Amino acid sequence: MINALHLTDPHLFADRSGELRGTATHASLSAVLDHYRNGDWRADIALVTGDLIHDDSAAAYDHFKDLLATLGIPVYCLPGNHDVRRLMQQALAEPPFHYCASLRSGDWLIVNIDSCITGQAGGHVSAAELERLDQEIDGTDAAHVMVCLHHPPVPMQSRWLDSVGLENGAELLQRLGVSGKVRVVVFGHVHQPYDAEHDGVRIIGTPSTCRQFKQRSTLFAVDDNPPAYRRLRLLADGGLDNELVWLTD
Ligand SMILES: [Fe+2]
Repeated sequence: MINALHLTDPHLFADRSGELRGTATHASLSAVLDHYRNGDWRADIALVTGDLIHDDSAAAYDHFKDLLATLGIPVYCLPGNHDVRRLMQQALAEPPFHYCASLRSGDWLIVNIDSCITGQAGGHVSAAELERLDQEIDGTDAAHVMVCLHHPPVPMQSRWLDSVGLENGAELLQRLGVSGKVRVVVFGHVHQPYDAEHDGVRIIGTPSTCRQFKQRSTLFAVDDNPPAYRRLRLLADGGLDNELVWLTD
């Protein structure tokens, strides 16, 4: 069994007072981490599915590291469309941070993949990344696999958001289905909750640690939902317990 704290899209700035659509993102991520710490649920690892920063700065990654290091657990990160791969890899080169790394624990393999296209908001899982994914899944003796990425592998029923979604989501899900080992896919990017099952694979999106987007919206729009995070519990039998936690107060 593994407990994973899922955080996504913190959109930090070099300036700690920087705001995304009216939400100060550093304070917002701090509040999320405080909420986690003040609860009685404990994670073995943290998973952060992209858009760590918003202003292309190394200083924003330093703030991310300062905040996340206080958790005292390994932090597995993958890039989003707002990340700068070179800066992000440099920043996350040493434990407790891990960049696009895989993790084997108990009966589970967790694979973090890069779904970004440089300079574009939408995503595509490259042939090389699909190949790596296949190799990792084929080569593991773990009974169950969770795959994490930034972009949603399914449409969100939101016209603007689906125009910047994952170009080859259907191909990705088809390849994941072939293995018979993939139980869960987790993503960020959409700044809203998602939880559904597709062909036996649980697909889960978590809202941002800062500003949320309006669900099923035709045009870009933010909503008033608070920051959020998700508690994931990967069970020995391949099942999943999860709880979406909103910072309502
Ligand atoms: Fe984002």
